[in-house]
Amino acid sequence: MPPPALYNPTMAGAAILGLGACLPERVMENEEWTRWVDTSDQWIRERTGIERRRICGPDESSADLAEAAARAALADADCPIEEIDEIVVATDTPEADCPDTAAFLQHRLGARPVPTFDLAGSGCAGFLQALDLCCSRLATGRRRVLLIGVEAISRQMDWTCRDTCVLFGDAAAAVVLGRPQPNRPEVLAVTAGTDGSRAPILGRMIGGNRIPFSAEVLKQEHWSAVVMKGREVFKEAVTRMAEAGRAALELAGLSLDQVDLFVPHQANLRIIEATGKALGLPLDRVFVNVQEYGNTGSASVPLALWEARQAGRIPPGGIVLMTAFGAGFHWAGAVARF
Ligand code: UT7
Repeated sequence: MPPPALYNPTMAGAAILGLGACLPERVMENEEWTRWVDTSDQWIRERTGIERRRICGPDESSADLAEAAARAALADADCPIEEIDEIVVATDTPEADCPDTAAFLQHRLGARPVPTFDLAGSGCAGFLQALDLCCSRLATGRRRVLLIGVEAISRQMDWTCRDTCVLFGDAAAAVVLGRPQPNRPEVLAVTAGTDGSRAPILGRMIGGNRIPFSAEVLKQEHWSAVVMKGREVFKEAVTRMAEAGRAALELAGLSLDQVDLFVPHQANLRIIEATGKALGLPLDRVFVNVQEYGNTGSASVPLALWEARQAGRIPPGGIVLMTAFGAGFHWAGAVARF
């Protein structure tokens, strides 16, 4: 029997035509959290590696960040918006409860009346899960798909819950995908998996049908709190991201020796290091930017990919391994050749 991460292999592939990102201007240093909760810069650095994060301004929201990231990716791809056949947004902090963020973007970007949708609920695995889906869409008729990972999580988290609030940051990053073509960076394989038995230990349980928003719920002290059993999530994240990484490489017919850069989900420096170690990848082949942005959920992997490329960390023809893990539990791995 194949391992769970191989349940949903995508071998369709996709060209990566352009990348873009958007970061809110406001930088929040660790020290600033001491005004809100009983914490310290030292604790946050030692336990997470995070030094600062970006926070949305009062007038900034998910659609603003997503739009700017999308425009940057379209420009990078030299792709007019008219050529986009579908828009997919991976987010758990959408512009509104309904309709989805993707609908706002279709209008704001001036896209044709193409299908658009949000993929929500998989936390930090959202972008790679959506990439899996987009590869299939390209294999079944779409020519160009715009995929955006965005979180404005500072708007929805509990600023008095020290267990979680210090971990997150706001960001968006986008990719323009096309059908595979010569001399273009290409997604070679994607694999994704789910274990719903652990759903209650990571997520936001309020706002759905089980516990709808009500005047009573909103009066509770931690109504918006992210639920997270940190240590359990930590261990599972390492195991599943390593597993997904190996599975994606196997699908692509590549080995760990051939990986030029590992771009994991950026939740915690210790998780990143442990996953690199589990895969036997030295730290100089692991991309890390969690110190600058914290955990940006669905934006984390594309933001890291964008920054790695900007920093010249991906050689021409280089093999990039990506992995992510989030609420659900959902996880995913992808391999790309640049
Ligand atoms: O992206 C997917 C979703 N999330 C993750 O991947 C996160 C996974 N988990 C983690 O990154 C880590 O488990 C945390 C960073 C959340 C916590 O680190 P830890 O080393 O596992 O710490 P812990 O939960 O065992 O807590 C240690 C102590 C506790 O105090 P006691 O019980 O030992 O007295 C906490 O109350 O640290 C305390 N603590 C804090 N202290 C200062 C928790 N948060 C803070 C804080 N500042 N912000």
